[in-house]
Formats: sequence, structure tokens, C-alpha cells
Amino acid sequence: PTGRLTRARRLLEQAERVLVLTGAGISAESGVPTFRDPMTGLWAHRRPEELATPEAFAHDPRLVWEWYEWRRAQLRACAPNAAHHALAEWIAASPGGRRLYTQNVDGLHHRALEERDKPIPDGAHPRTLHGDLFGNRCSHCAWTERAREPLDTSSEHTLPRCPDCGGAVRPAVVWFGEALDTELLEQAMSDAQRADVCLVVGTSALVHPAASLPRIVDRSGGVIIEVNPQPTPLTAEAAVHIAGAAGAVLPELLM
Ligand code: APR
Repeated sequence: PTGRLTRARRLLEQAERVLVLTGAGISAESGVPTFRDPMTGLWAHRRPEELATPEAFAHDPRLVWEWYEWRRAQLRACAPNAAHHALAEWIAASPGGRRLYTQNVDGLHHRALEERDKPIPDGAHPRTLHGDLFGNRCSHCAWTERAREPLDTSSEHTLPRCPDCGGAVRPAVVWFGEALDTELLEQAMSDAQRADVCLVVGTSALVHPAASLPRIVDRSGGVIIEVNPQPTPLTAEAAVHIAGAAGAVLPELLM
């Protein structure tokens, strides 16, 4: 592992442009459950693919909102971990050449940046490919808001409606079967084409198009560094795979 760490560090030092892609695994040490690892607790018997879809919301909005409210409550009790902090410092140190794209909707990258208590440089903000768990938006019009209070999910009639058009309010996240924001995705692909290194942390690399970003970096002449205790479909393509927990590896790798 030390040899791999050294190699990865050298690749990062030599790189002019780095694209970082994170997934649920980077927040595991903050206590946020991942999606595809065996889960315990209330929703263990539900697959995200059954709840995080437009069809599920149309069919049973109360059930979907209950799940999201449960996740919001869980997250309010979580804090960024050593991996989020190390990454926030590292990106803020050179925001021109380092871009952070995350599949996570938990807001922990953003909170780590804010907790530095220093001005956030332009370009250092995480780019949230799958949206924001604490955002609400209308399913019909462009209305959005920041979710502050827990919602009353006791019945379908207490669920929020859009103040502008009366449409059903939904979480501002990207569901299975939905398209990512076009502009953001185009930016991500163009950053991937230009990146010398793709640092991939804590993702099973199964959900596209996010999972294609490292492959674009690889095909465009860059290399992949992967941090994940488990192998993934990307591991065979990675120049370096560091099999460890993000909270232990990133502070070492990015110091
Ligand atoms: N450090 C690093 N990686 C970890 C850690 C850790 N401490 N703990 C677990 N992992 C790894 C797991 O080995 C796994 O490969 O994190 C990965 C988590 O994978 P998933 O649960 O599939 O999460 P992710 O890849 O982010 O899922 C992608 O799927 O449900 C959708 O939209 C949702 O953004 C999500 C997308």
C-alpha cells in the first residue's frame, strides 16, 4: 500500500488537471449508508431503484417522501469526515486545475469547504451530478427551494404543492431513468477529456453516465487512481488502486 500511495501521489503531483469523482463510499465513515452495500435498518428491504424513480413518486409520493425525510434526518446528524476535509483543502489550494464531481446528494463536500472558515475560491465548489438531497423542486415548473423544515408526510394531502403552479413538490435529486443536467454533464465530459488524472473515490462505478467519466479520462490519455476497499469494474483500468477507506487514504494521499 505504501508503494501505491507513493505512486499515486507522484501522478497527482505531475498532473496539471485532475478530475475527482466521488460516490457514496466517501461518506460511509460519516455514517451515511451507501446504496449497494448490505444495509441495515428501516429501509434495508427496499432497493433505491424502487424508490428513487419518477414512477415510484407518481405511484406513491408519500412513501417516496418518507424515505427522503428519513435520509434528511439521518444526514442532519452526520458531519464531513477526514476524506471530505482533505479533499476540500486540496481542491481549494488549486481550484483551477482540480475539479470535484460528486454523485452524492448529501452536501458533505460543501459543508467541508464551508467548515474551513476561509473564503471559498471560485471553481472549488463540488459539482453535484445527482442533485441535492436538501433541495425541493416542482415536478412541473422551474420552482425550487432549500428544504428547511421536515415535511409532514402523514398523508398524501399534507405533502407540499408548488406555490406557483400547484404541481407536486419533489426532492431536487436525479432519479433513475432521469437525465442529468445537460450543461453540467457536458462540462464534466469536457473536463474528463482534458484531465491527466481521474481520482475516483468510493463509488461502485455502476451508474452511468457518472461512471463513464473515469473511462473518458482513460481513453483520452489520462490515468485512473481508485480509492476503494473493494475492487470495482474500474479497477482493471486503474493505474493505481488503493484498497483502503477514504478517510484513512485521502489525508495521506493529498497532504
Ligand atoms: N471508503 C471508500 N470507499 C468505500 C468505503 C470507504 N470507507 N466504504 C464503502 N466504499 C465503497 C464500496 O466498496 C462501494 O464500491 O463505496 C462504494 C459505494 O457504492 P454504491 O453504494 O453503489 O454508491 P455509488 O457508487 O455512489 O452509487 C451511485 O447510485 O443509487 C444511485 O444516485 C445514487 O449516486 C448514487 C449512484
